Amino acid sequence: MVKIAPSLLSADFADLKNQIAAAEHAGADWLHLDIMDGHFVPNISFGPPVIKALRKHTKLPFDTHLMIENPDRYLEAFHAAGADILTVHYEACTHLHRTISRIQELGMKAGVSINPATSVTALSEIMPYVDLVLIMSVNPGFGGQKFIPTSTEKLRQTADIIKQKKPEIHLEVDGGIDDTTAAAVVKAGANVLVAGNYVFGQGNIAESIATLKRIVV
Ligand code: DX5
Ligand code: ZN
Repeated sequence: MVKIAPSLLSADFADLKNQIAAAEHAGADWLHLDIMDGHFVPNISFGPPVIKALRKHTKLPFDTHLMIENPDRYLEAFHAAGADILTVHYEACTHLHRTISRIQELGMKAGVSINPATSVTALSEIMPYVDLVLIMSVNPGFGGQKFIPTSTEKLRQTADIIKQKKPEIHLEVDGGIDDTTAAAVVKAGANVLVAGNYVFGQGNIAESIATLKRIVV
């Protein structure tokens, strides 16, 4: 089954508790948390204290996307705050295998993400060790950007490699997912869809999630 992971980045930050409750009630599967440090990406979002505060208000798995330099310094902090899945960027990790192993040792699922300009071939050595691959379909840093069309073919290639090397892992897509792009990315092999602006920026959280769910069944 395809999972919907609304990204809090486009939510009303003054009303996170209620916005999360609305998403959970509408059938969201995971909650996608975008962590930005102003270095790896040109934007700053939020960190472990916010995650910790939200943890007691929802049962949704916290799908935590680290768009930060030196993620190794913060793995324990995100685990302590309540992250369930921790995804790091290939481009931000010098010793990616060590980082992935440490995330799993802490008891979390480990994901690896690649930027639009990074080839899927970069993932071939790490693929057997990860629980999730996240294909960025926009340049990370901001919500509400336009889906980069070549991402669909990239997803197809990634899905093929996953099928050969480790069929049980998740293939997640992040950036520009809405009612016009969801069907194609699922057809290409994605099984987790992140949607920020489409879910939280349109004014009706429940309706947006219901539409995405209808499209991806
Ligand atoms: C982008 C983030 C995304 C973002 C997606 O840097 O990683 O998760 O919130 O937002 P939309 O769905 O608005 O493109
Ligand atoms: Zn994200």
